[in-house]
Amino acid sequence: LVAGIDSSTQSCKVVVRDAGTGALVRFGQAPHPDGTEVDPAAWWDALQVAIGTAGGLDDVAAVSVGGQQHGMVALDADGRVIRPALLWNDTRSAQAAADLVVELGEGDTEAGRRAWAAAIGSVPVASFTVTKLRWLAEHEPENAARVAAVALPHDWLTWKLSGSQDLADLVTDRSDASGTGYFDPTANTYRRDLLTRALGRDGDIVLPRVLGPAERAGTVQGLATVLGPGAGDNAGAALGVGMRAGDVTFSLGTSGVVSAVANGPVNDPTGLVTGFADATGRFLPMATTLNASRVLDATAALLGVDHSGLSELALAAEPGAGGLVHVPYLDGERTPNLPTATGSLHGMTRSSMTRENLARAAVEGMLCGLAAGMQAVQEQGVKVRRVRIIGGAARSAAVRQVAPAVLGLPVEVPQVSEYVADGACRQAAWVLDGGAEAPSWETGSSQTYEAEPAPAVLERYLEVAGRVAAEHTD
Ligand code: XUL
Repeated sequence: LVAGIDSSTQSCKVVVRDAGTGALVRFGQAPHPDGTEVDPAAWWDALQVAIGTAGGLDDVAAVSVGGQQHGMVALDADGRVIRPALLWNDTRSAQAAADLVVELGEGDTEAGRRAWAAAIGSVPVASFTVTKLRWLAEHEPENAARVAAVALPHDWLTWKLSGSQDLADLVTDRSDASGTGYFDPTANTYRRDLLTRALGRDGDIVLPRVLGPAERAGTVQGLATVLGPGAGDNAGAALGVGMRAGDVTFSLGTSGVVSAVANGPVNDPTGLVTGFADATGRFLPMATTLNASRVLDATAALLGVDHSGLSELALAAEPGAGGLVHVPYLDGERTPNLPTATGSLHGMTRSSMTRENLARAAVEGMLCGLAAGMQAVQEQGVKVRRVRIIGGAARSAAVRQVAPAVLGLPVEVPQVSEYVADGACRQAAWVLDGGAEAPSWETGSSQTYEAEPAPAVLERYLEVAGRVAAEHTD
């Protein structure tokens, strides 16, 4: 048996599968507090409960951890967590991100973007760990002075599972290291100079050793269970759904992510696409929005309906929602990088202000933000062969039917639901068999949705979103 863990923004899930066939054997989950600042101890507690409900790891030969990307877990010299982790969706370091870009460009923002893209394949926004370290140095200098090691959520959980208290035993993988802002996925090396620049301290900080995709990280404390390197959740999902070159996945969770597998590195100086590594030795260019399933949650709550009620309302409206455009920057936004933006509704008239149009505009707005992300990924030379939609919001009937209209392409919805934990599980099987590629498991069937293309919906959204962006750009 092999196990895969998904420690996400809201909960922890554990999947146990047969190492040979990939058949599902057991499953467990436990919630942990969400938000933007969380004590990592809560992830560890939830992981223990989830492992327990999944029947334990005693009979499991290997386990890997997938986790939310970017979160700053700062450790002191004794391995203690210094302060609650600042997560990917915490925008307090937006100014630090802007400052770091200008500094690397020696006063010129555009030059700074180019320099960051060349250095790490991405232009850092507030989500990136490096900006959180700068924030720490500026706002909590006593804490910054105590930092002896910096880990990501999945690195820290892997280390906890190993039972080690030695900072030198911390490990990570290429996919998650890519989101720190001080790792170059093309050269496969840390850029300590960028870390030093952020924290204003010399390079004596311990960083997790970056393992290869199927390299062993040790064993679980007290057991013979082998630990895999783990992965960032998006790379885990790519492995879980079996993405190949030409596949584009829309992952609609708390964040909305458009990702594609690429054989070579991507360096986008506009900052719309992050040029991360994947969990197989290739690359996973992504465009990530802060606002996905929560746009639907908030709109359903506003309209006093559940998710199926929201879908019914949205599908009762015409494409274009009677002219209503919802630009869904409810938590600020990062793609485009507008941390101080707020959500807005445009095109309100007495006739457009119906419950149906409000529901439709929310679904269209969320999808249009991601369609714009897909265009940015395509502009990096990535060819789109097929589009798949996964994540909590992919369960919505309206999302399934509106997405092909907005994108002008058929979309597939795979049956698997625990794609991150499944990807981690597949990595664990790979670590055991040691082959050149991850073992090919049957990933299950998918359903295809088609619709009459409605290009005007995206065109109008882009026009309105462009105006919103102009209001929020200095
Ligand atoms: C990716 C990102 C999010 C988190 C969500 O850059 O910030 O997708 O990984 O868990």
